[in-house]
Amino acid sequence: MPINNERAASAPLPFGREPVRTQVGIVGAGPAGLLLSHLLHLEGIESVVLENRSRAAVEATLRAGVLEQGTVDLLNATGVGERMQREGAVHHGIELRFGGRGHRIELSELTGGKAITLYAQHEVLKDLIASRTEAGGTILFEAREARLGDLDEKTPSIRFDHDGGSRKLTCDFVAGCDGFHGVCRPSMPESARTEYTRTYPFGWFGILAQAPPSSPELIYTHHPRGFALVSTRSQEIQRLYFQCDPHDDVDNWPEDRIWEEFRVRLATHDGWAPREGPVLQKNIVAMRSYVCEPMQCGRLFLAGDAAHIVPPTGAKGLNLAVADVRLLSRALTTFYRDGRSDLLDHYSETALTRVWRAEHFSWWMTSMLHRFPGNDPFQVRLQLAELGYVTTSRPKAITLAENYVGLPLA
Ligand code: FAD
Ligand code: PHB
Repeated sequence: MPINNERAASAPLPFGREPVRTQVGIVGAGPAGLLLSHLLHLEGIESVVLENRSRAAVEATLRAGVLEQGTVDLLNATGVGERMQREGAVHHGIELRFGGRGHRIELSELTGGKAITLYAQHEVLKDLIASRTEAGGTILFEAREARLGDLDEKTPSIRFDHDGGSRKLTCDFVAGCDGFHGVCRPSMPESARTEYTRTYPFGWFGILAQAPPSSPELIYTHHPRGFALVSTRSQEIQRLYFQCDPHDDVDNWPEDRIWEEFRVRLATHDGWAPREGPVLQKNIVAMRSYVCEPMQCGRLFLAGDAAHIVPPTGAKGLNLAVADVRLLSRALTTFYRDGRSDLLDHYSETALTRVWRAEHFSWWMTSMLHRFPGNDPFQVRLQLAELGYVTTSRPKAITLAENYVGLPLA
């Protein structure tokens, strides 16, 4: 039975006892899955997105904030950037703060006019869900227990539970966009994949605070007590992070203690202090680097966090997910339109070039800015030497800037 693409995500769906067929079955309604579905739709390719959480949960999950220039351009060019243009904030620089002084990296001046846009990930998701729903696309929320099958056959399948029953989706291809803890990557035989991992001995304590912006641009701070980051969401809501013990508990941190930590780490010789306000949310995230090679197996293609993770210091994760699905949508379009499978065959190889560049950048930023256990004074001097170089050498600053705003999409 074909999918009725006229039905909105919230309308009754054509899933019953009979298997439903589509061209691309997408697991996960994060940035990777939703954007892939949108890009395929623009090329006339049908997809179904299966998401195990509710729509409300997806639209409320707090994560990324920094969009690269290429991500912004793609969202605008494909008709889902209107609210981002209105509500997002374009930043032309960032500050690196160390030794109690701030140093501006002029992102736009160093990259021929490129910039970053501050616009929360869950706002991007809301825009994509609205667009897919309006276009009659099928996103099945609360689709649980996805099991992939027949990945080496021409018609792979995804079985899942939904609405009290067991369902089956058959398709030409499966896109594994289900994040780091999803089921798609483990569906690849262990013998068919190699994993590269680094875990860091620290996490990030993140807060959302009701306060005016402390700074017109993001501040990445190196401090003897550890890294701190000042980011923003709007004129009223701010996002800040400080490096913490990954096993710490948010309940150990009442509001006063949180602001005291920020005041100490962010202090400058000329008396700068963050603008404080009620803490609306607090959470701790672990930091890791991870790559799975290859990113494809039979008719399964992984994209985004399902295939790779970067520590958030370089603000690359969401942007990498976008780069992956742009590549994958092009490869699938070439397959359906021209009958050519060469781009699909080389998807992993092509995607991994950008992935490893972003892995290196994120690792480098993390290593330069965080306090490592033991606080080896030699290591600290090396970090300060690197920060001094980045903020005084134009070629070195260009290296940071061009990676931060995002290298051109392939
Ligand atoms: P996800 O966003 O994880 O989406 C996967 C989806 O699949 C989820 O909705 C999940 O519920 C669903 N799912 C999982 N398992 C199943 C299953 N079995 N069946 C069905 N559905 C399933 N990146 C940036 O680019 N810029 C930043 O500024 C930035 N800041 C960050 C700050 C923090 C604190 C963190 C934690 C991350 C940050 N990132 C940033 C990274 C970014 O948030 C992720 O890289 C991005 O969410 C990856 O998107 P994705 O679609 O691949 O995966
Ligand atoms: C954020 O605003 O959430 C943010 C900004 C910069 C980062 C990571 C996260 O490097």
